Amino acid sequence: NINGNPIRMASPQTSSVTSELDDIDWDNLGFGFMSTDYMYVMKCSQGEEFSKGELQRFGNIELSPSAGILNYGQGLFEGLKAYRKHDGNILLFRPEENASRLRMGAERMCMPSPTVEQFVEAVKFTVLANERWIPPPGKGSLYIRPLLMGSGAVLGLAPAPEYTFLIYVSPVGNYFKEGLAPINLIVETEMHRATPGGTGGVKTIGNYAAVLKAQSAAKAKGYSDVLYLDSVHKKYLEEVSSCNVFIVKGNVISTPSIKGTILPGITRKSIIDVALSQGFQVEEREVTVDELLNADEVFCTGTAVVVSPVGSITYLGKRVTYGEDGIGRVSQQLYSALTSLQMGLTEDKMGWIMEL
Ligand code: COI
Repeated sequence: NINGNPIRMASPQTSSVTSELDDIDWDNLGFGFMSTDYMYVMKCSQGEEFSKGELQRFGNIELSPSAGILNYGQGLFEGLKAYRKHDGNILLFRPEENASRLRMGAERMCMPSPTVEQFVEAVKFTVLANERWIPPPGKGSLYIRPLLMGSGAVLGLAPAPEYTFLIYVSPVGNYFKEGLAPINLIVETEMHRATPGGTGGVKTIGNYAAVLKAQSAAKAKGYSDVLYLDSVHKKYLEEVSSCNVFIVKGNVISTPSIKGTILPGITRKSIIDVALSQGFQVEEREVTVDELLNADEVFCTGTAVVVSPVGSITYLGKRVTYGEDGIGRVSQQLYSALTSLQMGLTEDKMGWIMEL
């Protein structure tokens, strides 16, 4: 139970869901939505605190057409993953980091948010209730998607009178169709993802709608995704639509510093610590597009993308490639170190793993 409140669970309709599970090709999971058994729902009124949540059968939710999230984008999301370890146990990676980031975002978006403890407990309940959807070891993970939204009705622009915290899950494999093969990015020079003083540094839903146009255009031209530049100087790297970016030059790994326009990725933060522990020099600073074009290796990090090597960058019509084809040495080393930790294959010296 959560805060002394019993969790209600309706009984699963085993016959239909069992056949859905049987149909899954675990060796070829991509990053598509798949519905599972349960979702977690917790509500509270404006000015109050979240206190009572419950697991419900996964399904559509009812919202007023006038809900704050639908009309004015008052919403945040999170993303984290549960892995199945070889001994059958379930592992979560730094869930309290997602909880803290949601709280920071909620403050920016004028929303109440669950406590770190409520968030982590709710994640655990949701994962355990959907345990059979966690891919077998080495085949992928269960992606956990917490949402926080203004669910109450508003008409004039104002914070919504009611809020809903919801968690659903879906089994996933590779985010990019390339898998671990290097992706091809194009630097966007007209549109920007975020501006100083805006909401680029929090995981609000509108940040992701804002990149769809540039992303779609890039995909139509055969690129994997878009790399954004800062909106003031138009020369410093920001991030890719769904992930952070790193460049490697010799023993130095650099990534744009967090300054309000860049999403503070938990994989970003973890990769910095892993790289430092492996003897690399890591710099969080302004990184220019020229440095990007002259780097030895480039890679992206994110919960969904994990560590994705970049094979080429196109900037103002000029294409630069990195290495031979295949993942670069440093990207491979960091990818292996992080994923071995997340899957429970190496000792967790960082204290990042929560075993359920
Ligand atoms: C994640 O990496 O978990 C994200 O939230 C990015 C999303 C666009 C898939």
